[in-house]
Amino acid sequence: MNQNIDRIILDEAQLEYTVSKLAQQINRDYAGTQLVVVGILKGGFMFLADLFRRIEVENCTLDFMTATSYGSLTESSGSVRVTKDVAEDISGKNVLLVEDILDSGNTLSYIKEYLMNRNPLSVKVCTLFDKPSRRRKPITPDYCGHTIGDLFIVGYGLDYNERYRNLPYVGVLKSEACG
Ligand code: IMP
Ligand code: MG
Repeated sequence: MNQNIDRIILDEAQLEYTVSKLAQQINRDYAGTQLVVVGILKGGFMFLADLFRRIEVENCTLDFMTATSYGSLTESSGSVRVTKDVAEDISGKNVLLVEDILDSGNTLSYIKEYLMNRNPLSVKVCTLFDKPSRRRKPITPDYCGHTIGDLFIVGYGLDYNERYRNLPYVGVLKSEACG
């Protein structure tokens, strides 16, 4: 285990199980529809790669978005800006946003509004982790892997100052490693 990790929250087998359960729900709910899966970079990339290979919706495409907010290393701020947009025309289609973690909700509530202006059939949110106690915007995930408390976690795509994304598990960062 990485020396800066205090404890593991989800190991590789648990991650695989969580992702397959989410894919089952998505496959059931979107069967026979036109689905645009949108990965939110960078944090969602590893989760998306594992989730997407389990999506069996026939009429399904993939795109990516990047949004930045001027916050600290562990917190986003209210001012969000889209730096890479979805290229595909989403009007009349179902959009599923795939994110690593829903924290204050600043990022996803902005992105959801932003995409809603293009007349999609629906915009829903799939997040691997949710921290409801930290919410500042009224947004709830439609698909959620795990609800966690007010912890800062890294690995499996999630970073602290761009590090630890490569860890194959998700763990809590030691407090002495933050800052
Ligand atoms: P929000 O806009 O506050 O909901 O923040 C969402 C983004 O903050 C996520 O996409 C992550 O990039 C980052 N984030 C929030 N909590 C954590 C965490 O515990 N570990 C790593 N990144 C986090
Ligand atoms: Mg991040």
